Amino acid sequence: MWLKQRGVSLLNSGVLHHIGLLATCAGGGSQAHIHPILNAAVAFASGRIVWVGEEKQIPSRYSNLERTSAGGRTVIPGLVDCHTHLAFGGWRADEFRMRIEGKGYLDIAAAGGGIRKTMRQTRMATEEALLEHCLGYAQKYLQLGVTAIECKTGYGLSLEEELKLLRVYRKLSHKVPLDVVSTLLAAHVVPPDDKCNRDCYIKMICEELIPRVAEEGLADFNDIFVEQGAYTAEEAEHILGVGLTFGLIPKLHVDQLSDGGGGELAARVGAVSADHLEYTSPEGIAAMAASGVTAVCLPFASLYLNQPPMQARAFLDAGVGVAVATDFNPGSAPSYDLPLAMMLACTMSRMTPAESLKGATLLAAKAIGKDHEYGSIEVGKRANFAELQVPDVDHWLYHFESNSCAKTWIDGVAVYQQN
Ligand code: NIG
Ligand code: FE
Repeated sequence: MWLKQRGVSLLNSGVLHHIGLLATCAGGGSQAHIHPILNAAVAFASGRIVWVGEEKQIPSRYSNLERTSAGGRTVIPGLVDCHTHLAFGGWRADEFRMRIEGKGYLDIAAAGGGIRKTMRQTRMATEEALLEHCLGYAQKYLQLGVTAIECKTGYGLSLEEELKLLRVYRKLSHKVPLDVVSTLLAAHVVPPDDKCNRDCYIKMICEELIPRVAEEGLADFNDIFVEQGAYTAEEAEHILGVGLTFGLIPKLHVDQLSDGGGGELAARVGAVSADHLEYTSPEGIAAMAASGVTAVCLPFASLYLNQPPMQARAFLDAGVGVAVATDFNPGSAPSYDLPLAMMLACTMSRMTPAESLKGATLLAAKAIGKDHEYGSIEVGKRANFAELQVPDVDHWLYHFESNSCAKTWIDGVAVYQQN
């Protein structure tokens, strides 16, 4: 078990040494440059990294800090899952089977399944039950070396139910050592409601929900699902524009099942990230490159929905940073296993293991506006690491054991250790 570390004290100081390979994932160079150091050590004080380098060069001023051996393991920055829909009620294994039997994702949704089915089950769940569910997954994330997660709403789909999900995430953030970043995704689909139609629901989001979320400081980001059966690009521009005036930064689910001009839209609204992008056109990619939008590759969604994978190489070659995330949700991506998603980003989207690692650390942190805080092992950043029982990064994502993480550190404290 782990204990919630509230605040940071001088106790969170020490030296992690005897690191066989340190993949710092520092900025600079292309995404393939993870800036590795062999036989390395990292010193940290008050939860922040103060020195990184070859162990033999560690300055003597750190010699009185407590030393912990990494046992020759590979050490990476704490992983960041920058796209999850963590709080949901119930599952949809029946739809998993139906899709294999030949039914389409949008057909199942149109028949009352899909996101609306999870909405019904989520509305039936209490705040306490949803919090328990999230706490269980937070524990599993720590075991995988994940130290930060982004959590979206989108299964409440009413004023009170969306606020309920954001309150679950706020409580979660107070109870777990992971950094929890919240995103409002009220515009996921239009909820079925006889009294409030599409325009009425959008008006509610803009005039009631967004102001409340801002007033209570419940979310940092505002996300929208732009797709047939969900929202149009025009509606997205309007809702994201209103969110911006309340300080909510735009994010987008785009081009997942068809090219909806998502790359161009992300550039126009100044989105911090555009996610999915399986069908994005060359023009969309160029627009994202020109405006510095981070792309988020979600291999589980393409795998489970039997869709073509996101063409990560085209984005990388155009100079777009590509983050990798799980999209954990009960429909299109029912897995929280971020290292598995990273392996699939290699095999399906043709990212190298190094690119995939930087995608699930520095680029993922960038996709949630936290790259100044974590995502790489550099002086000044939080001392968040994962110790992996692997010889190197290529071998990790190639051989792929069920879990290679032996120990997870957050703010200079070991929060998980494999038995
Ligand atoms: O990111 N694309 C839209 N939303 C989710 C799927 C949600 C669901 O099927 O429940 C996604 O894939
Ligand atoms: Fe998603």
